[in-house]
Amino acid sequence: MDSATSATSATTPDPDERARALAAVSLEQGDPTGWFERLYAEASEGSAVVPWDVGHPQAVLVDWARERRGEGRSALVVGCGLGRDAEFFSGLGYTTTAFDISESAVRTTRARFPDSRVEYVIADLFDVPAAWRRGFDLVVESLTVQSMPRSVRERATAAVAELVAPGGTLVVSAACRPDGAADDADDADDAEAGPPWPLTEKEIAAFATGGLTTVSIERKPPAGPGGFDRWIAEFRR
Ligand SMILES: C[S@@+](CC[C@H](N)C(=O)[O-])C[C@H]1O[C@@H](n2cnc3c(N)ncnc32)[C@H](O)[C@@H]1O
Repeated sequence: MDSATSATSATTPDPDERARALAAVSLEQGDPTGWFERLYAEASEGSAVVPWDVGHPQAVLVDWARERRGEGRSALVVGCGLGRDAEFFSGLGYTTTAFDISESAVRTTRARFPDSRVEYVIADLFDVPAAWRRGFDLVVESLTVQSMPRSVRERATAAVAELVAPGGTLVVSAACRPDGAADDADDADDAEAGPPWPLTEKEIAAFATGGLTTVSIERKPPAGPGGFDRWIAEFRR
């Protein structure tokens, strides 16, 4: 998924390869997200490794959140996976809800953090509860939109933006699509190109939609050798 976050040796099966193989089957079936449940289910049985399960919150989010406190504010973590970022924002005092489309991911996360104050919910970004619309002071989107093919990117971006309450903030972390890649090309929508399908600057700027305005868009160096540069971007309603 992101070679910067998956440490494997020459003798260990590459978690990214298994994720891509499952994604390829899903995409062939016209189902851009079904592979997540298969991957998390395999991981819960010990037969696969979730490449992004690195056991700590994303460094760019930790940096962004420095000196911010969440007391009295609500947060929603999109595509929360195994809870690393949700637990971090909960620890800053936000009343945190976190959701993922994968039932196995949510089950594993609840078991991993039995005393968590985060409300973990199984939900699809494209079909969220009505009460979530424009409902959260902080929305955290990290690596989820890039994990879906470009064919659903515009819809996914708008669905994330729609979750931000009036006066609220959206923070987005994503891999940068390398310089030189054509901005609007859909050549990267096939299974060979991803996941992930990193975001161009235009695609990260596109979160300023549905009434959100851009506060900042920054490009940071990769977390480790061979990884992607990262976008860390903030928007406000
Ligand atoms: C690359 S993983 C990143 C997980 C987590 N954000 C992290 O950084 O550890 C993308 C996550 O998005 C979830 N996801 C994908 N499509 C989704 C959708 N339509 N609705 C909710 N979650 C989704 C996947 O199950 C997966 O956990």
